[in-house]
Amino acid sequence: RAIRFLRDIERMTEDSRVLCREREQTAICTELRRASQQRRAGVVFVCGVPGVGKSLTTATALSTCDAWARRERMPAPQVAWINCMALRTPNTVWKVALAALAPEADVAGGKAGVEPAAAQARVQWRFNNRPPGQEKVLKPCASKRDKRSQGSRAPPRMPVVVLDELDALLRGAEGLTTLCQLFAMATAPGAHGVIIGVANALDFAIHAREELRAAGIEPTEVVMPAYTAADLTVLLEARLGEMVGSHDGSDSGECALSPGVKFVKPALQLCARRVAAATGDMRRALQVCGAALGRAVGQVDQQAPGAEGSRRQQAKAVAVVTGDARQPQLPTLWRRLADRKKAVDTRADPPVTVTVGHMAAALSAVMRDTSSCMVKILPPQQQLLLAAVVRRVERNAAGSHCTVS
Ligand SMILES: Nc1ncnc2c1ncn2[C@@H]1O[C@H](COP(=O)(O)OP(=O)(O)O)[C@@H](O)[C@H]1O
Ligand SMILES: [Mg+2]
Repeated sequence: RAIRFLRDIERMTEDSRVLCREREQTAICTELRRASQQRRAGVVFVCGVPGVGKSLTTATALSTCDAWARRERMPAPQVAWINCMALRTPNTVWKVALAALAPEADVAGGKAGVEPAAAQARVQWRFNNRPPGQEKVLKPCASKRDKRSQGSRAPPRMPVVVLDELDALLRGAEGLTTLCQLFAMATAPGAHGVIIGVANALDFAIHAREELRAAGIEPTEVVMPAYTAADLTVLLEARLGEMVGSHDGSDSGECALSPGVKFVKPALQLCARRVAAATGDMRRALQVCGAALGRAVGQVDQQAPGAEGSRRQQAKAVAVVTGDARQPQLPTLWRRLADRKKAVDTRADPPVTVTVGHMAAALSAVMRDTSSCMVKILPPQQQLLLAAVVRRVERNAAGSHCTVS
């Protein structure tokens, strides 16, 4: 059950707001708007350790930009959100991008499938709005819809390519070449669109910075620091909403999502302080809260074994199964949530209160090994360097100093 909380509690609800990241969100949004208004290309690098809200902030900036474009009666950006971790090989990125930017294109391409090179050419064409020397290859692929939109001269939607978990592409020469090709799209004459790289480390941003500048593109770098204890307290209170009760647990106010379930504030503060001291990772903080809630429910179950079924229902209602950072607007999930609310029989259920004790136990279970957490969040290059040093030092145990070659 704790695992279920852990899975579900991480997701954003429809009315969740992105707090503590206003500056970063504005920086991304400003670049998107500027590129859209001036019909030029832009590059944004979003960096920070895992769980600091990079994907969420980027997704929110995109939907803010979408709303802005609608208000201004401009075409909304067309977004290709690519999770680089899910790509089998680096060059499949072109097919994925093409499927999002030209959904009418036959990406499957019949039995043979579109070759990565052909997909790359089409994506570059979409970005640069002209197929240099490739009219013959590319024009027959243009769908009827393409032709209709060209005929009616509707301004094209600005393409935005988001490369989430960009670090995953940085392994191997092929990945680096693909990334360079992707970002080079912004430097082509007449290019119109934005490429957003979301990464744990700034490595690629540093690599690409000079070349982009030489081509007249000043990349926007958004570095997200780890959350502080104060940030995490605000975020947890906002995310767990009305589940947060008063200090002594005497607040019996009804909870919107699940009646009779609450966290006492000092428990959340404890979680925020401990997680901030270790990693500053909001994902981890939510996992700890999920585990603490699991413990509280388990304790109530033990006290009233007959109530197992209804407790499970109540726990499910708390879990708030409500969508995904990229798609916060999912009405069907709200319907499911409403059904769950109905399913909870409040009169029969004793309240569940997550106390400091539950939180402390969950913290020691989830955060058992903080030093390995810290190694896991390092960029791959630093992990490799650390591993090399450890190997060298182990072999050289007797020596006073050693050299890593
Ligand atoms: N500012 C925030 N407000 C609300 N939830 C947040 C915030 N930052 C992170 N989260 C939550 O923490 C988890 C990790 O965020 P995510 O954007 O995926 O981090 P990253 O991409 O940096 O690894 C998600 O469940 C997300 O909804
Ligand atoms: Mg992410």
